[in-house]
Amino acid sequence: MTEIRRIAINTGGGDAPGLNAVIRAVVIAALNRGWRCTGIRDGYNGLFLGDTYPNGDGLIELTRQRVSGITHLGGTILGTTNKGNPLRYPMRDPGGKVIEVDRSDEIMRGFRRHEIDALVAIGGDGSLSIAEVLHRKGLRVIGVPKTIDNDLDKTVITFGFDTAVSFATECIDRLHTTAEAHRRVMVVEVMGRYAGWIALNAGVSGGADVILIPEIPYDLAKVGQALQQRFEAGRQFAIIVVAEGATPAGGTHSVVAREAGRADRLGGLAEAVAGQLQELTGFEARHVVLGHLLRGGSPTTFDRLISLRFGAAAVRALAEGQDGVMVALDPPTVRYVPLNEATARMKRVPLGCDTILTARELGMCFGD
Ligand code: F6P
Repeated sequence: MTEIRRIAINTGGGDAPGLNAVIRAVVIAALNRGWRCTGIRDGYNGLFLGDTYPNGDGLIELTRQRVSGITHLGGTILGTTNKGNPLRYPMRDPGGKVIEVDRSDEIMRGFRRHEIDALVAIGGDGSLSIAEVLHRKGLRVIGVPKTIDNDLDKTVITFGFDTAVSFATECIDRLHTTAEAHRRVMVVEVMGRYAGWIALNAGVSGGADVILIPEIPYDLAKVGQALQQRFEAGRQFAIIVVAEGATPAGGTHSVVAREAGRADRLGGLAEAVAGQLQELTGFEARHVVLGHLLRGGSPTTFDRLISLRFGAAAVRALAEGQDGVMVALDPPTVRYVPLNEATARMKRVPLGCDTILTARELGMCFGD
């Protein structure tokens, strides 16, 4: 294995609180080993679209000073993108039609040209699948599991999730008082793509009456019945938490946009559910979409610590000669799992998990 002199770091996909903490930990741990650190801007764009950046500035030298004081900051100092997956990069053919092109060989040439010996790829399933392809093409890669959705397999948790759940829970708390004051049904939509982790954890913690998640297709009539019973019992308001990727039984996802080179954009479910329930039950219903608020702000203490631990572990992995692995939380420790195992399938909420059992025992309805 060649000696490491210079590593690169990139952040891909939707941002998540904790990205800057990971970057800081990687940079300091690497500099302390005598390695240079380069940040790639906006996923892989800074590497293979470098000339489009002002002053050709797609790569940033990451010094101790550049990562000073960023642990608590949301966002990412490197920028990120969830458009233009380089394996399915949208381009126009001579006839003007949008086609998807695999540009991974250009990326590999970029790493060689800049004499980068290894990459720490911080991302969710999409970004880590790209990193896995680069690893198969010969790049030394360590992945760090990021996403507010918590849908990456082989790690107990991804960083960013705890911050998203904490904020969603706070919002549910706030909705309780206004729902009760107006005797309304409040339907709150949270992100999470095709997994219900955020909705489930925030819904249970916030004491929701109904939680709709992608793993349990819902029947609106059953949700209506649960509301009727609650109102008849004298509790004349209700909180419903819906995951953006939940579906009615036999129905499909609520998609608001579809574009080449990127994942479908989900949305619109809370509004639809609120309207349908108002019609069905006669109870006044309002909807709130928390959306990108869940991705913003400072990481919680839990997310800061796990991000710093993941970042330091990624550099330790490289120093130990690991390659093609993702650092993963396996309490009480952090371990390494092959990238191809981590990205092989989505981690969805297991139907028999303790949190779902708890919710059912507390009388919460999943619409099934
Ligand atoms: O994967 C993170 C996430 O925030 C999902 O929960 C959500 O569906 C998606 O990204 C939104 O992406 P965008 O920022 O492109 O709207």
